[in-house]
Amino acid sequence: MKLIASNLDTFTHLLQGKRILELGSGSALCGIAAMCFNPSTVHITDLPDVLPSCKLNVELNKSLIPESCTVDIFALDWFHPPPAIINAHYDVIFATDVVYAPELYEPFVKVIDKCCCSAPASGTLILLGVCKLDTKPAFFTMLEEAGFHYNLLNSKKAAFSNLGLFEVQKNGATTILSQLQRDWYCLQ
Ligand SMILES: C[S@@+](CC[C@H](N)C(=O)[O-])C[C@H]1O[C@@H](n2cnc3c(N)ncnc32)[C@H](O)[C@@H]1O
Repeated sequence: MKLIASNLDTFTHLLQGKRILELGSGSALCGIAAMCFNPSTVHITDLPDVLPSCKLNVELNKSLIPESCTVDIFALDWFHPPPAIINAHYDVIFATDVVYAPELYEPFVKVIDKCCCSAPASGTLILLGVCKLDTKPAFFTMLEEAGFHYNLLNSKKAAFSNLGLFEVQKNGATTILSQLQRDWYCLQ
């Protein structure tokens, strides 16, 4: 959230009129924040058991949803992804604190590969938050083997050094690293 709040122009350009997917939404905080930037579509997804809390949080924040934005909340289990997500041409995918166990690495990488539009320039940008205590280097090796590139977005001076925020993309899709005010995570 601090990344977004400190870089409003960049995120307006990134999200306005775009198709957004959130994976492993939990409280749906990223999806709800994305709604404020007037995207065309926000898809909030998680395991079936978690969807009631996603729906409740979206309902509580429905005043933030612009009229032109379509919000859909549905089950998306990375082990059994629904065919509808393939070639769904998402512009931005949010996923925070979702690759916390090694058995999730491979299905998660396969899912982002399926959801990802990899055409240069119009490709999908994935914004991925990880806790380095539970997301091991093996996850990043899998990302590379699947053809993804990634950049760390938060400053190395990060106050909470266990948190890594990455942009992940394929085939030279748009990146935001060069546009960011990168000291957003420092205390001073
Ligand atoms: C630690 S929570 C993070 C929630 C939220 N993204 C956040 O940052 O607060 C991890 C989320 O991943 C979801 N998750 C775990 N395994 C999953 C799977 N196989 N398919 C889809 N979601 C999954 C969980 O249900 C949970 O909501």
